[in-house]
Amino acid sequence: MPTPARPLPEPFRIKMVEPIHLCAPEHRRRALEAAGWNLFLLDADDVYIDLLTDSGTGAMSDRQWAGLMLGDESYAGSRNFIHLRDTVRELFGYPYTIPAHQGRGAEQILFPELVARVRGRRPDVQPVFISNFHFDTTKAHVEMAGASAINVLTPRAIDTATAYPWKGNFDLDALQAAIGRHGPQAVAGIVATLTCNSAGGQPVAMDNLAAVHAIARQHGIPVVLDVARYAENAWFIRERDPAWRGATIGEIVKKMFSYGDMFTMSAKKDGLVNIGGLCCFRDDVDLFRAVQARCVLMEGFVTYGGLAGRDMEAMAIGLRESLQQDYLDYRIAQVAYLGERLQQQGIPIQTPTGGHAVFVDARRMLPHIAPHRFPAHSLAVALYLEGGVRAVEIGSLLLGRNPKTGEQEPASMELLRLTIPRRTYTNSHMDYVADVFSSLRRMAAQLPGYEFEWEPPVLRHFTARLKPVIAAPASAPAAQEEEAAPV
Ligand code: F0G
Repeated sequence: MPTPARPLPEPFRIKMVEPIHLCAPEHRRRALEAAGWNLFLLDADDVYIDLLTDSGTGAMSDRQWAGLMLGDESYAGSRNFIHLRDTVRELFGYPYTIPAHQGRGAEQILFPELVARVRGRRPDVQPVFISNFHFDTTKAHVEMAGASAINVLTPRAIDTATAYPWKGNFDLDALQAAIGRHGPQAVAGIVATLTCNSAGGQPVAMDNLAAVHAIARQHGIPVVLDVARYAENAWFIRERDPAWRGATIGEIVKKMFSYGDMFTMSAKKDGLVNIGGLCCFRDDVDLFRAVQARCVLMEGFVTYGGLAGRDMEAMAIGLRESLQQDYLDYRIAQVAYLGERLQQQGIPIQTPTGGHAVFVDARRMLPHIAPHRFPAHSLAVALYLEGGVRAVEIGSLLLGRNPKTGEQEPASMELLRLTIPRRTYTNSHMDYVADVFSSLRRMAAQLPGYEFEWEPPVLRHFTARLKPVIAAPASAPAAQEEEAAPV
């Protein structure tokens, strides 16, 4: 399809609205102080435009809402499960489906079984998973299962200033080297994250995925697809790989999934639902059964996995809806639009923009703040104080300390993620966010770094309490006379 000559409007009409409100600057400052300068600890009502995540924050379609009314809340074998299972088989080619309450629910029932297989054959080795990049809950579940997580992302992803179409790719030499170093028998699985969230929602090329699959086959290692954003990855393949230009998104998705043996999915992204996940298998029936047994204990009976029947119905409909070309054209164009508006003002971002978010390069925007003072967090705080917009740090704060040494090492990138929920905000909202950034650009040199007041031992970014290391920026409203709420 040729690029449209005019900007594409949203391919939907708005049938229901949810009012949002910009609270006063003094209120925002007080709220953030009371929240220990941690945006995760704010009340959502104190946020105007919420770009914290695209996970479960999108709008369902009228068809999905209608589907909720068809909920069959039978404990076992509900018709919504059957619909979901048949949809998975048709769209992805995987006959064995286990629903889960969300992506990490799928991870927690799958990974211990893969690790147990390694231990069964080689009790003397440390099991590892190798990924282009483990998402943070994925890494945590790998480690909780007793394995180590190794990332082999293409180094081209680190250079945010230089555009490269496949910044989600595996570095195939690094993958081979990691397998060689640990020995194939120690590798519990190769996890292909599509799109690669941590690199900026960047796609993995079809030929890269094919090569990963071939390497895995050669060594007898299972390939686990982490497919939260499968439809967006397929859109990029159609757009950027001439071999796939004439194909439908559905055909590309089918091919992508053919390179996996099993998949975990957070359906809260491209599944277009507010809650839900999947853990599915192509042909490993033994593993499927073992994971089912774990599902009963951890998530719920094998035909509901922690979901209501109506949730599974909405998911079955959403999985298919996200394959629509006009929806994806609009979706990815909106993210690109925000990226262009920021670039026009000289804001450094990960280029090209990815599928679900614009990632601002805080290391380049705030070079005066050292990694251990969290430059992207500083930018997130300023964005909220200035405009009521909530975004999320993906950098040294998220990375945490080296588990062996306890040292804070610098992350490879210090990014601020502006994550765009699906079908939720219009481009007027994107314009507003871009306008707030023009103020941030002017005050960038004065923004402070942050240090911990309280630092939890694991996944610290969610609950840590921080404080600015030097005085807050001059333009932030002075609210010192009012006491922060007790904590
Ligand atoms: N895998 C990827 C690539 C993800 O981005 C996420 C979640 C998960 C797994 C876990 O899924 O949240 O349903 O349990 N990402 C969200 C985010 C939280 O904000 O990027 P979940």
